[in-house]
Amino acid sequence: MKRNLKRLFCLLLALALLFSLTACGSGQGGTAGSPGVPDPEGPADGPDLRPSEGEETDASHVLVVYFSRTGEQYAVGVIDHGNTAIVAEMVAEETGGDLFELLPADDRYPMTYKELTDVAKREQNDRARPAYAGEVPDLSQYDTVFIGAPVWWGDWPMILYTFFEENADALAGKRLVPFSTHEGSGLSGFDKKLASAVPGGTVLGGLAVRGSDCQNRQDGVRDSVRDWLEDLGF
Ligand SMILES: Cc1cc2nc3c(=O)[nH]c(=O)nc-3n(C[C@H](O)[C@H](O)[C@H](O)COP(=O)(O)O)c2cc1C
Repeated sequence: MKRNLKRLFCLLLALALLFSLTACGSGQGGTAGSPGVPDPEGPADGPDLRPSEGEETDASHVLVVYFSRTGEQYAVGVIDHGNTAIVAEMVAEETGGDLFELLPADDRYPMTYKELTDVAKREQNDRARPAYAGEVPDLSQYDTVFIGAPVWWGDWPMILYTFFEENADALAGKRLVPFSTHEGSGLSGFDKKLASAVPGGTVLGGLAVRGSDCQNRQDGVRDSVRDWLEDLGF
């Protein structure tokens, strides 16, 4: 009799245990670590769901760095939205990337075209490295960096070389994609000059856009940007 009671007690205990486990397993929501919410640490004996070193959880791996001027520009008169800025914003929109504008640290660039060309020519002759303002975003977050600027005297504006040289190590191992706006010179060797300035990067095919189209033919520019990005695999 005593033995039967003991068996019954064990059976009831087992049933109670089974019931509590089943009730727990069917629950939805709850706090982290409870069923229904993926545990970032992963189950103790299952696969480790944590990102491996260097792997990004954030969907955005694209940074768009650009330099652009407003004021009086060739062929378009006085503008309040720079030509290269317009392309840079399109690239960021189409790729879901982040934007970083290279702004000069001081007030060195005039707003009239002729004066600006004189300052730019002097900088080029002097191989100047004008300082830029602000802090470059943490480049380790990005695997692709688009870099855009107007063609100035057949070359990147000197402030871009400041950026390349100061960040050459952080840009190494990344995909670097140049783009220009211009009024006849095209890409002007931006790709080769970028490859020399940042030897550790992989330079992909660039895009050249007419500055005046950025102001007057934006639908066509967006189509070109989309085609180019598609060719690059975006
Ligand atoms: C200082 C300076 C130099 C320029 N040199 C060239 C050039 O060599 N070749 C060219 O095609 N366009 C040249 N341009 C025209 C610009 O590249 C063009 O207007 C560009 O779209 C301006 O872009 P932004 O508004 O982003 O500054 C020059 C413009 C400036 C202000």
